[in-house]
Amino acid sequence: MARTYNIAVIPGDGTGPEVVREGKKALSAAALKFGFGINFTEFDFGGDRYLKTGEILPDSAVAELSKFDSIFLGAIGHPDVKPGILEKGILLKLRFELDQYVNLRPIKLYPGVETPLKNKGPEHIDYVVVRENTGDVYTGSGGVTMKGTPNEVAMQNMVYTRFLVERCLRYAFEYTRKRNRKKTLALCGKTNVLTYVFDLWERAFNEIGSAEFPDIKREYYHIDATCMWMVKNPEWFDVIVTTNMFGDIITDLGAITQGGMGIAAGGNINPDGVSMFEPIGGSAPKYTGKNVINPLASIACGGMMLEHLGEETAARAIEIAIMDVTANKLKDMAAGKMGYSTSEVGDLVAERI
Ligand code: IPM
Ligand code: MN
Repeated sequence: MARTYNIAVIPGDGTGPEVVREGKKALSAAALKFGFGINFTEFDFGGDRYLKTGEILPDSAVAELSKFDSIFLGAIGHPDVKPGILEKGILLKLRFELDQYVNLRPIKLYPGVETPLKNKGPEHIDYVVVRENTGDVYTGSGGVTMKGTPNEVAMQNMVYTRFLVERCLRYAFEYTRKRNRKKTLALCGKTNVLTYVFDLWERAFNEIGSAEFPDIKREYYHIDATCMWMVKNPEWFDVIVTTNMFGDIITDLGAITQGGMGIAAGGNINPDGVSMFEPIGGSAPKYTGKNVINPLASIACGGMMLEHLGEETAARAIEIAIMDVTANKLKDMAAGKMGYSTSEVGDLVAERI
């Protein structure tokens, strides 16, 4: 086979395995159609393994995963495991150790999908959030003293370095150029309050932008205003670049405007290393094993992964197939309301590819 990709698959918890199964179905259909090979290797990291063996994600696994062409992940989060253990021990550990410093989250309303935004359609909701993915309050910098006393002090620091900011901004500028739409990159921050961190971001944004990307228009929005405009005028946006925590928050808002967690895809990108593709949504424990969850987010993740691997035609075919299914088949994007089961939705997409 001319091109063969080795993909590590982490189905994970809850409905993760069900959506990943359909994502793989679409990927295999695309491989067959466009003449490349995909080898999937499954890893059972997640809540069940942790509860059985106490093991979360050993360092040896990170080393092993780093040899694959990409990682395809379902969902992490288990109702019987205290919040934070699996999220930090698997998801965040992989993002940090594999230095996936961009979390790329497209906000795109597909045809036929209902949005809660009044009078908005697919022509208005089509932009991308570049969420910085390795800095900020996610670094674990901080601590607690005098715990349990009335004087307890808790700190969790917003950490950024010139290096972290620059590499994320360069990625965002380049992505905006490659996307070739409005050629507008909006920095989303809080320069009126977080004057140290966003002074750094703003200076780097303007310096890199004017010196290296004069063809890209620069805009700036405060985080609070960004939320407002994402609801009121989403058509203003082309690409938004922002910090880790702000990006976490606005991409859930964005996801609901594109039809909810069943449809929102994302990729943790290391442009020079191993990237990991995962739906924005979680493990949806109450729907586990019922074959009712919407797999389109996972399928769209497969498309993003192929695009990242350079299989752009195949990636586009997956997206077109998804759009045909949302426009002509699914009644609703929510679990149990699609009019089809999880596996039937996967079949519909695979047939179209
Ligand atoms: C996300 C999630 C994660 C995050 C959690 C599960 C650690 O909310 O991918 O957006 O905060 O990044
Ligand atoms: Mn989140």
